Amino acid sequence: MAEPRVTAPKPTREELEYEEVLRPRSFEEFAGQQEVVENLRLFIQAALQRGEPLDHLLLSGPPGLGKTTLAHIVANEMGVERRATSGPVMERPGDLAGLLTGVGEGDVLFIDEVHRLSPVVEEYLYSAMEDYRLDILIDRGPSARSVKLNLNRFTLIGATTRAGMLTGALRARFGLTIRLDFYCSEEMATIVERSARVLNVELEPEGGREIAGRSRGTPRIANRLLRRARDVAQVRGEGVITREIADEALNMLGVDGRGLDEMDRRLMLAILDKFDGGPVGLNSLAVAVGEEGETLEVVHEPYLIQEGLLHRTSRGRVATTQAYAYFDREPPSEGPDLRGEQVDRQQPNTQHPNLFEDEPGKGAGEESGSA
Ligand SMILES: Nc1ncnc2c1ncn2[C@@H]1O[C@H](COP(=O)(O)OP(=O)(O)OP(=O)(O)O)[C@@H](O)[C@H]1O
Ligand SMILES: [Mg+2]
Repeated sequence: MAEPRVTAPKPTREELEYEEVLRPRSFEEFAGQQEVVENLRLFIQAALQRGEPLDHLLLSGPPGLGKTTLAHIVANEMGVERRATSGPVMERPGDLAGLLTGVGEGDVLFIDEVHRLSPVVEEYLYSAMEDYRLDILIDRGPSARSVKLNLNRFTLIGATTRAGMLTGALRARFGLTIRLDFYCSEEMATIVERSARVLNVELEPEGGREIAGRSRGTPRIANRLLRRARDVAQVRGEGVITREIADEALNMLGVDGRGLDEMDRRLMLAILDKFDGGPVGLNSLAVAVGEEGETLEVVHEPYLIQEGLLHRTSRGRVATTQAYAYFDREPPSEGPDLRGEQVDRQQPNTQHPNLFEDEPGKGAGEESGSA
């Protein structure tokens, strides 16, 4: 049985069905992200009172933290319809026009992976977002004419794991910008308990805490681990997820006590053993561990940074003193090489606009010609 990695950024087909079942439908069901929820509730209430659509909303943050979920909830709470598409799917301006002309007054248009819109489509989106108008060029050559379409007032909700890849022009057109951060362990415990109830699995509190604590602050991963623990409980136990059962399932999946998986460990060990603790550029690391740089950057590094094992400096990735200790390596006598400007020292659950802002090759100590 090919087991997808627990950190796989995209849900499998089978998982998608579970995600729908487990997806919170309202703010009441949505655990954690308290500040985000409070802000959104307020903006929604204000828009409803004015009888206006909600401002365009940009949701960013690592995969599996609840961006799509929040887009659903916002549409529900506004009492409007939601249409969904994703950046790479819309190839031509006509695709956008087709969607937008079908959007009703106040409705939500959800664009996933909004950083991957093609430049032409994005260009048309500007006037749609600003003036609810589309100027579409029909035909080519002598018969070409421009047609102006008036649209209903709508709310664009864009989601991205890479806010730094958005053009300034697009970003400026979002009135509301919300960044999701990893959930703390209490929030994760609440999420695991809720998912267990929905899935009708018996979960002991210690079993829940074990899963919550090793899910890297990510609801999608917690749900994944919960379902695997359910399998183990069914086959090896009495159907109840105890701490021991949870531990067994997590170990089977290669998730260690801190929630690190195989690729996290490979990445850290590469820095420690192959690159003398760093600094090392993203491209060299990607080659060393056999994973795409983007996946390392979006999926693995944010968690390692939050765990205090990795720093991103202007000259590259550096293992921290904690990393030497955790992986049982002798730290260099003068300490990790942290010379150079600190571009990334994210603290847990704090706003840190820089985390996803670094475009490939910019600022993060990228060596040239190694891609
Ligand atoms: N706050 C939450 N409370 C409970 N469950 C949550 C919460 N946030 C997310 N989930 C669960 O995690 C799963 C993944 O969430 P979601 O699809 O919204 O992530 P995402 O941020 O859109 O990820 P991606 O970047 O991959 O699109 C959902 O199925 C949902 O069940
Ligand atoms: Mg999503």
